[in-house]
Amino acid sequence: MTQDYIVKDINLADFGRKELDIAETEMPGLMALRTEFGDSKPLKGARIVGSLHMTIQTACLIETLTALGADVRWASCNIFSTQDHAASAIAAGGTPVFAIKGQSLVEHWDYLDRSFQFPDGANMILDDGGDATLYVLLGARAEAGEDVLGVPTSEEEEAIFAQIRKRMEQSPGWFTKTRDAIMGVSEETTTGVHRLYDLQKKGLLPFPAINVNDSVTKSKFDNKYGCKESLVDGIRRATDTMMAGKVAVVCGYGDVGKGSAASLAGAGARVKVTEVDPICALQAAMDGFEVVTLEDVADSADIFITTTGNKDVIRIEHMRAMKNMAIVGNIGHFDNEIQVASLKNHKWTNIKEQVDMIEMPSGNKIILLSEGRLLNLGNATGHPSFVMSASFTNQVLAQIELFTKGEQYGNEVYILPKHLDEKVAALHLAKVGAKLSKLSPEQASYIGVSNEGPFKPEHYRY
Ligand code: NAI
Repeated sequence: MTQDYIVKDINLADFGRKELDIAETEMPGLMALRTEFGDSKPLKGARIVGSLHMTIQTACLIETLTALGADVRWASCNIFSTQDHAASAIAAGGTPVFAIKGQSLVEHWDYLDRSFQFPDGANMILDDGGDATLYVLLGARAEAGEDVLGVPTSEEEEAIFAQIRKRMEQSPGWFTKTRDAIMGVSEETTTGVHRLYDLQKKGLLPFPAINVNDSVTKSKFDNKYGCKESLVDGIRRATDTMMAGKVAVVCGYGDVGKGSAASLAGAGARVKVTEVDPICALQAAMDGFEVVTLEDVADSADIFITTTGNKDVIRIEHMRAMKNMAIVGNIGHFDNEIQVASLKNHKWTNIKEQVDMIEMPSGNKIILLSEGRLLNLGNATGHPSFVMSASFTNQVLAQIELFTKGEQYGNEVYILPKHLDEKVAALHLAKVGAKLSKLSPEQASYIGVSNEGPFKPEHYRY
C-alpha cells in the first residue's frame, strides 16, 4: 500500500504514543464517550475531514472518533501548531494525517485537500476556524462560474486560490460533488463560528452546522482557562523573559482576553486592557485592569497580545512607537490581528523557530512571536489536555448529532442543547474531585428546574 500520510518523521510515533497515553488520563470526557458509544459505534459510515491543530489532545479526539466507528482524515488548521510526534502517532495508527510544524501556506492547502480524499468521498467536516468549509464552498462557487477567485489580497488567499484551481483542473466537478455529500460541520472556534453565521445570513450555508464554540463547556473553559495556562507558556518558551513587573497589554477582553489577562497577571505582569465593547471594558476595569487605548500605551508597555478575532488591531504605527525589544504576539485565530504584512520590508533576524526580531526605522527592535499566528500553539503546545477534553467532548457529541440526526436539522447554525453541555461538565467533575450537591424536590420546584437538569434557563450567561 502506498503511504497515505505526510508527517515530519514517522519515528516520532513512539514518543507521541507515550504522550497520548498520558493525555488519555487527563481527558475523561473523551474516554467516557469511548465507553458509552464504543460498542454501538454511532459514527460508523461517517467519513470525517478534520481541520484542527494536530496536537496530542487532537490525537485523542481522532482516536475517539475512530473508536466510535468513523473513518477520519486530518490536516492542521494552522501552519505552526502541529506537534510532529502527535501527527506521527496518528499516522502510525493507520489514520491518514497531513501536518508538519512549519509547513508552508501552499502545503497547508495541499494538505487540507488531501484530507478530503476519501476513496468514497467525505461526508462530514470537523472544522477549526472554518478553512475546510471555506475550501469546499469557495471551490463549489468557482465551479458554478462565480467570480470568486479574483486577484488575491494576501499570501493566504493566493495559496487557497491556487489550490482550488489545481483541484478544479485535476477533478472537474469535485467541489460541487463534495459539498453536496457533506451532511454537516461542527465548528470549534469563535472566528469559524463568525464565518458560519455570515454564510447563514447570506443564504450560502448548504448543510447544517453545530457551533461547538458556544457550548458553555467550550468557550467559558477552553477560551478562558485554556489561555490562562497556555498564553504565558508560549511567551516564556519563546523569550524566557521575566514576566513579573512588566507592563503587558491585552487587546480584547472577551473569553480569550479574560484568560490571557489572568495568565499575565498570574505571572506578576501589570496588565492593561484595550476594548471596544463597553460591557467587556467595564468587566476588565472591575477585574482590576486599567482600560486604555493602544495609542496611549504603545510606547511604554513591554508585552502586547491581541485576543480580538478582529483585523488590524496592532498596526504599523503602534509597532513603530514601541520601545526597544517590546514583545508582540497574537492568540486570536488568524494572524491579521497584527499588521505583519506591513513589516515585510523591515530587517528580520530569526532568533529560533517562530521567534523573530524585527528592526524598525528608528533602530528600535521588536520581538514578534509565531509571525503573528496564535502563539500559544506556535510557541508552546496549546491548552492542556483536561480543558481540551471538554471542548472535544462537545465536538464528538456534535458529530454524532449531525451524522445520526442530520435530517432533523435545517441548513443553519445550531448550539448543542443544554443537557449535553451539562453532561460534558459532569464528565469532568470526578477528575478534579468535585462533589455535586443535590436539589431537594422542594428546592427544585422553588427555583423552577428539574432535579436532573437543565439547571439554568437558556438565557443564563454563566
Ligand atoms: P470574543 O468575541 O469573546 O472576544 C473578542 C473581544 O475582542 C470582544 O470583547 C471584542 O469587543 C473585542 N475587540 C474586537 N475588536 C477590538 C479592537 N479593535 N480592539 C480591542 N478589542 C476588540 O472572542 P473569543 O472567544 O475571546 O475569541 C477571540 C479569538 O481567539 C478568536 O479568533 C478565536 O477564534 C480565538 N481563539 C483562540 C484560542 C487559542 O487557543 N489561541 C482559543 C479560543 C479562541
